[in-house]
Order: sequence, then structure tokens, then C-alpha cells
Amino acid sequence: MLKIKKLTVHYGPLPALKEVSLDIDQGEIIALIGPNRAGKTTLLLTLSGILETTEGRIYFEEEDITNLNPHHIVSKGLIHVPQGRHIFPTLSVLDNLLMGAYTKRKEKQAIERGIEDVYQLFPKLSERKNQRAGTLSGGEQQMLAIGRSLMAKPELLMLDEPSLGLAPRFVEEIFTTLKKMNQNGLTLFIVEQEIHLTLSISHRGYVLRNGRIIKEGPPSLLLDSQEIKDLLFA
Ligand SMILES: Nc1ncnc2c1ncn2[C@@H]1O[C@H](COP(=O)(O)OP(=O)(O)O)[C@@H](O)[C@H]1O
Ligand SMILES: [Mg+2]
Repeated sequence: MLKIKKLTVHYGPLPALKEVSLDIDQGEIIALIGPNRAGKTTLLLTLSGILETTEGRIYFEEEDITNLNPHHIVSKGLIHVPQGRHIFPTLSVLDNLLMGAYTKRKEKQAIERGIEDVYQLFPKLSERKNQRAGTLSGGEQQMLAIGRSLMAKPELLMLDEPSLGLAPRFVEEIFTTLKKMNQNGLTLFIVEQEIHLTLSISHRGYVLRNGRIIKEGPPSLLLDSQEIKDLLFA
């Protein structure tokens, strides 16, 4: 579904990603594990068309999407839930969800159905639909950010550190919901520092360090690897 071939990305003269190759098949949950500054966010920003590549290609559903503009990429169903959530704090929960459907704004019925689907997945958002989003807890804001991304009808959803700054019970709730979303047919790319929980729901994973993929494989192999042990005890 997504194929990344030898992707290199620079900030000015400095490389942040070096020859990164990675594949995601339809129906998978793929984890990208890496410490701070490894280049995880840079990779998602590049896949979303926000940063330009220096070298390498990105294919989504067989089509070359390298350096397409972000709007075009979103319309293909490659959707990004950014690190830090970026909800609109002064808008209501419902209005935040509607903002996620801006590419589908002519399809009123589909939008209503989409909102019902989000409320089913996150009942708390339904209870708080008229509340300002800025008054939600961190965990609820993450749910809202995920719910808003679902309104754009993703084929592949990319999440940048969904556990960041959340209380443990929210983290578990989010990951349980991510697993449910995958069982409903959504392909997921989860970028995380939270190693165990992420690998526990993933089919395969990659380890990124200093802009390079240093290990890949099934969760059991990664958990046993020196590369992951180094991260855990770093
Ligand atoms: N806007 C930027 N300008 C210059 N360097 C940046 C910028 N954003 C990130 N970097 C650098 O790129 C590297 C990777 O950062 P990032 O992708 O944010 O890593 P991660 O998400 O894994 O923490 C880091 O060395 C970081 O300092
Ligand atoms: Mg990051």
C-alpha cells in the first residue's frame, strides 16, 4: 500500500533521514520506533508532502506521490495525525470533527455518518460534542485528533506519538481503539517512543535511529533485539 524507497531528507545542509526504505501492506499495523530526534516526525511530514525529499521515492497504492502537495495527498486517503494533536481549542468538539471533513464538504450524508462512526468509537466525544475542545483532557484531545482524521476517510492513517503526554489509562484506551480501527479494516502507521504497547498491537515494526532504519521485523524479534534494548536503557 505504501512503499518508501531510499528516502533522504535534509533540513538545510543537515540530513534528517538517510536512505529510509519501508513497506506497509493493506490491513497492517506498522510501528516505527525511535528515540527523540531520530527523524520520526520528519518522515511523517515528508509522507504528507509538507517537507520535500532530497532523494528517494514514495509510492502510495502503486502511484508515485513523491513531493505531491499536501492537499493532493490527503485526497488520496493518506492522512496524518500530527504530534501534539493540533486541535482547534476554541471550537466545539463537533466543529473540530467537521473541520476534518473539509475535503468532503459537499457530501452531507457521508459527513453525518462519519460523525456517528466517530462517536461510536469514542463515546466520550459524543457526550462532549458541544464543549470547547480546549477544555478536554489530554486523552480526550488525542481521541478528538484521531476522530477528526477519520472524517477525512483515510485508507492509511499515520499517527505521530499518540501516547505523548497522556496518563497511562488513556494510552491503553487509545491503543485498544487503534486496534479496533485496524480490525474494522484501516491500515495504520504508528510512530512511537512507547515501545511495548505499540509493538503489542503491531504486525511488524521498524527501528529508526539518527535518520536510519537500523532494524526491522516482527514484534517478537524486535523486542529481543539489542537495538531495542539499547533504546530501553538509553
Ligand atoms: N524545522 C527543523 N529545522 C531544522 N532541523 C530540524 C527541524 N525539525 C527537526 N529537525 C532536526 O531533525 C532531526 C529529526 O527530528 P524529528 O523528525 O523531529 O525527530 P523525532 O520526531 O524522531 O523526535 C533532529 O535532529 C532535529 O533537531
Ligand atoms: Mg517527533
